[in-house]
Amino acid sequence: EKHTAIVLAAGSGKRMHSQVQKQYMDLFGKPVLYYALRQFEECEFIDEVILVTKKDEIAYCREKIVEVYHLQKVKDIIEGGEERYLSVYNALKAAGACDYIYIHDGARPFVDQEMLQRLKEAVCTYGACVAAVPSKDTLKLADEALFAKETLKRSEVWNIQTPQVFAYPDILGAYEKMMQEDHTKMGITDDAMVLEKMEGQKVKLVEGSYYNIKITTPEDLDIAEIFVKKCNLQEN
Ligand code: CTP
Ligand code: MG
Repeated sequence: EKHTAIVLAAGSGKRMHSQVQKQYMDLFGKPVLYYALRQFEECEFIDEVILVTKKDEIAYCREKIVEVYHLQKVKDIIEGGEERYLSVYNALKAAGACDYIYIHDGARPFVDQEMLQRLKEAVCTYGACVAAVPSKDTLKLADEALFAKETLKRSEVWNIQTPQVFAYPDILGAYEKMMQEDHTKMGITDDAMVLEKMEGQKVKLVEGSYYNIKITTPEDLDIAEIFVKKCNLQEN
């Protein structure tokens, strides 16, 4: 069985409002992106990693991250697309034959080994799964004038994270189907959604972690520093 990971780092980080893109910002002397790559490197059942970046960052990633930290599982660094799902589609085509694919945001440094193990077991059983945690906040839908319109039942609301893990032919097929349709209007924000929408396939939620944040806005970096120390990742 072959298990391939896709690590996404081709975004612009607009919500971070920083000079340096968030995936390359410094976290205890190493770029944010390094931490997730390290977890896949150390995972015994992951065979290969495809890294996705902007075209003019490919050389930087190869020379300053992959080579410097000896990330031997990174088989390819490829160019992403304008939207996250287009970056994923490029990587799915570049990945080549494998059994399972683990799609992960490079902006989530705190994926851990136990989570990867839980996801592996679930994907082998269900064919599709995502890391998730129960929502701590109550979520409401709002109308255009920002009045609360509907309150979701909190016990049924989950925050969806990455990794999102799929049988490779299924997710590739779903993406190809989507690309043949009017995908720009679908509002695709994660990979499970592509499988749900295009194939009606069920996606299993697997325990993620409250540490597994996506670095998105400036305060997330402060939180990330605390988590690095708490999880003892400075030395890795
Ligand atoms: N990503 C990507 N290609 C894109 C857009 C996003 O590979 N065209 C990646 C990001 O680099 C990130 C992950 O997908 O690791 C999750 O996306 P998000 O948090 O939205 O990052 P950005 O799109 O960079 O940030 P923003 O939406 O604030 O601009
Ligand atoms: Mg984005």
